[in-house]
Amino acid sequence: MATAEVQVTPASVRNSERVPDPCIVVIFGASGDLTKRKLLPALYHLEQANLLPEDFVVVGVARRPLEETFAPDMKEGILSGGGVDENEAKLGPFVDRVQYHAMNFDDGAGYDGLKKKLAELDGKFNTKGNRLFYLATAPEYFSDIINYLGVHGMAKPEAEVDGKSPWVRTIIEKPFGHDLDSARALNDEVNKVFDEHQIFRIDHYLGKETVQNILVFRFANGIFENVWNRNYIDHVEITAAESIGIEGRGPFYEQAGALRDVVQNHVMELLSFVAMEPPVSFQSDGVRAEKVKVYKAIKPIKPEDTVRGQYGPGVVGDKTVQGYRQEDRVNPESQTETYAALRLEIENWRWAGVPFYIRAGKRLAKRVTEITIQFKQPPLRLFQGAECHGDEGVMPNLISMRIQPDEGISLRFGAKLPGPSMDVSPVLMNFNYADAFGKSSANGYERLLLDAMLGDGTLFAHRDGVEATWALMTPLLEAWAKTPVSDFPNYEAGTWGPKAADDLLEREGRKWRKL
Ligand code: BG6
Repeated sequence: MATAEVQVTPASVRNSERVPDPCIVVIFGASGDLTKRKLLPALYHLEQANLLPEDFVVVGVARRPLEETFAPDMKEGILSGGGVDENEAKLGPFVDRVQYHAMNFDDGAGYDGLKKKLAELDGKFNTKGNRLFYLATAPEYFSDIINYLGVHGMAKPEAEVDGKSPWVRTIIEKPFGHDLDSARALNDEVNKVFDEHQIFRIDHYLGKETVQNILVFRFANGIFENVWNRNYIDHVEITAAESIGIEGRGPFYEQAGALRDVVQNHVMELLSFVAMEPPVSFQSDGVRAEKVKVYKAIKPIKPEDTVRGQYGPGVVGDKTVQGYRQEDRVNPESQTETYAALRLEIENWRWAGVPFYIRAGKRLAKRVTEITIQFKQPPLRLFQGAECHGDEGVMPNLISMRIQPDEGISLRFGAKLPGPSMDVSPVLMNFNYADAFGKSSANGYERLLLDAMLGDGTLFAHRDGVEATWALMTPLLEAWAKTPVSDFPNYEAGTWGPKAADDLLEREGRKWRKL
């Protein structure tokens, strides 16, 4: 297909950049992969951009005694995270502010020691009592940590420092619960200790520029929102495809599966941005209210509108890979889905009758997260006259938003094929993020860490949103649990998933867009 490049005007309106108050970021579960691969590189990217306060400390907390190795290990993570040169002047001083504290999360005794250490660091680094606790542990520790922070008086700000009341906030990683009841129970526990404005339930998809850009694309432009509804749109597809497998996380993934791991959170966040009404403002409450309205307008999803898949052995890229059931610490007869597809409808004035098709899976043909808005086919009688050679080339207009990789947006439209007759061919108009704005090494956590330090919850999940998405997914999980699958594995690694997922669209005369 031919492509037409768009001219980009890089002049842009920048929000004024704000630097948070002095603070200590305390990461529980700091020996895990997330801290080294994402969190520390993200914090350092903020430092590079002068967006961290001068008086700032990171304290990694985990069980093992890593006092000697933690900071050098984090430095390695920062360097391999991309966009950082070993000789940068800021790197050494930043790493000097990376501290470590060993303790057991489920043993109350350790928290007094932590409290004392944080007070000492306040004295040494002038961090003024402000704390951001990041819960990056396995989810079974969330309640213990929250409770002990409460019991040991660390969840509420202490006495004023320099005439200013300090703040205490907590970021909680996903998974936030594993069904509706557990999410509610966890919310109750967290809300007993922290006020809602102190809680930041993180979904790293909301930190991605391309995800935030959905709102800009829709609401900062005059031409799209008018056609963004059931009068013009035929259907919406959301694909979150990964080529990687479960990366050694067998025990976690066995309990999770694709629906819990990716659909309930990342994909539903994407869906809410595509489908929401314009919020009154980009303040936390405005965005959150519109997201929840979308979730609540989704009709209960019928089990027959869902497809489960599990990968068998296959070839991804040029690598032969094993099937899910052969992965380390996975039940050889596992019923866990590594792929989920579903069809849903949002029953409101904007969307009634427009199907949303969602698919997410591991070990698929390639890594791509994309949202496709497919418009209705126009009437084509005009192109069936004597001078036209048919309408085969006419494909419905389509807007595709590439969340990752090759971030960008494409618009497909029909153009006249050069020649003596009125033949039409589809062409693409492409906007590519990297070409327009340069390549970025940001991993999505930068923006979210910064916002949490600033107390801005706009890009975080809230209690009602989390519970609303679990309310949609829990009946499906229960229905699936009652009906074991007999044909797992039902797709080969390196393909586009089970045949049943194609049937889900074909029965309505549609096809997944080829990505
Ligand atoms: C995580 C899931 O939340 O998101 C992983 O637990 C998944 O299983 C990852 O691989 C995908 O994130 P990204 O940013 O690579 O699309």
